[in-house]
Amino acid sequence: MFNLILELISFPEISFFVLILIFLKLARLVAAFPVSWGLSLFNVKVFIMSVSVLVGVQWGDEGKGKIIDVLTKDAGMVVRFQGGNNAGHTVENGKEHFVLHLIPSGILRQGVPCVIANGVVVDPVELVKEMNMLTARGVDVSGIQLGTRCQLIMPWHKLIDAFREDNAKGEKKIGTTKRGIGPAYCSKAERTGIRGIEMADAARFEKRFREEADAYNKMYVPFGGEKLDVEAAWKEVSAAADVLRPYLTDTVVTVNEANRKGVHVLLEGAQGAFLDIDHGTYPYVTSSNTTSGGACTGTGLAPRTISCVWGVLKAYSTRVGEGPFPTELDNAEGEFLRQKGGEFGATTGRPRRCGWLDAVSCRHSCLVNGVDYLAITKLDVLDDLDEIKICTAYRIGDKVVTGFPEDVYDLNRVEPVYETMPGWKTSTTGVLAWNDLPENAQKYLLRIAELVDSKIGIVSVGPDRAQTFRV
Ligand code: GDP
Ligand code: IMO
Ligand code: MG
Repeated sequence: MFNLILELISFPEISFFVLILIFLKLARLVAAFPVSWGLSLFNVKVFIMSVSVLVGVQWGDEGKGKIIDVLTKDAGMVVRFQGGNNAGHTVENGKEHFVLHLIPSGILRQGVPCVIANGVVVDPVELVKEMNMLTARGVDVSGIQLGTRCQLIMPWHKLIDAFREDNAKGEKKIGTTKRGIGPAYCSKAERTGIRGIEMADAARFEKRFREEADAYNKMYVPFGGEKLDVEAAWKEVSAAADVLRPYLTDTVVTVNEANRKGVHVLLEGAQGAFLDIDHGTYPYVTSSNTTSGGACTGTGLAPRTISCVWGVLKAYSTRVGEGPFPTELDNAEGEFLRQKGGEFGATTGRPRRCGWLDAVSCRHSCLVNGVDYLAITKLDVLDDLDEIKICTAYRIGDKVVTGFPEDVYDLNRVEPVYETMPGWKTSTTGVLAWNDLPENAQKYLLRIAELVDSKIGIVSVGPDRAQTFRV
């Protein structure tokens, strides 16, 4: 066999083909990392179109904000592509603790342009509050670009969200963040939404605002919806629009231009795969595509530009809000994870539901996202445990399945099948290299990678940006 290969590559056409293959493989490897690495490697001026997408592999709150901040060190632009201020992304930069909702988590690395792209639903009032919070804390927000095609979350969207949630009974409750996300995406699909560009012309914006506000009052108030005080709401929203006008940008153009120039563009996902409107545990999901596919429609970048997908995976599972959660621990072990992991919502403060890692769902998520590298977070939270469990299959009635059920009806009644691994009973919070991890921690991580069929690229052992290492 080996001889045959040698003979084949002695043909010039075939060896040329093999060389091209090797080059492509190398280029892909380099493109997964910042362009500057590529430059120093080849010592020639080559521009590799390098766009990385980072997504949550589970139900959100995996630590995406922290990993984005770490990766931004080598990026030239950071772009949010979906969701809205339902997201709560935490960054600890050695001195301070920040929670970001709409602004990309790259904002704490000065000088990196941060883009809110067209797939995001933007509450103008909340965005201005977040910008003011950052400015007051000494962070420069002048480089923010607000996509002209973004859909705006308007005051009636928040009222509709709260009205639906408060009136939903039993299993109809989703446990939304009540930030108006679902109703804003609903208006987009209904084609009655107001887009960022409409703020550019104050008179046009006011007309549209009043039309839609009146329509809400006519439709919802007779059925018990809270009446919107249109004058007060307009005052608040128009003041925010005045602040945001200079930031409005055709981000489809700027993001593509950056990519063409060889800037390493980092796309920041919000929520997680099981909150994806198509691939999640529908209907207990958010209203956007949280998986990597959403990064293209949410930015206007073509699929071929994406060279690397990072999947952020917490070393155990959490979920906020309603919906199936096969490995949930409604007991002292779950409480331990909640307290040790500080599992309380960064947006709503709600206690997060906690459980063991569910490799069945994560494998499905890595497949749908096409995860190239995993960033495994919160390993340190498991430091004190004697034993750690991983769910490797589900039992439904008398059947054992390893595929992820597409119906919440089935997912609600599965029983997790666990594999138990020994703990390491040593603090990992100061570990900065793979070889310094306790052997059982290495085994746990490698088992996860094997089960979800992905490679490990980063391990995080604490909330601070410094408590991270590449593998
Ligand atoms: P996101 O929504 O995915 O950005 O995650 P959140 O910020 O909502 O929640 C993650 C929480 O875990 C935040 O409080 C982070 O500061 C914290 N965190 C991130 N990585 C680690 C880690 O490796 N260890 C510990 N102990 N905490 C972490
Ligand atoms: P990050 O980006 C965790 C959940 C809500 C609810 C469901 C629908 O911080 O990971 P929505 O308000 O979006 O209509 O609520 O989705 N949810 C999140 N859970 N992390 C998030 O964001 C979430 N964003 C929404 O709790 O169950
Ligand atoms: Mg969060």
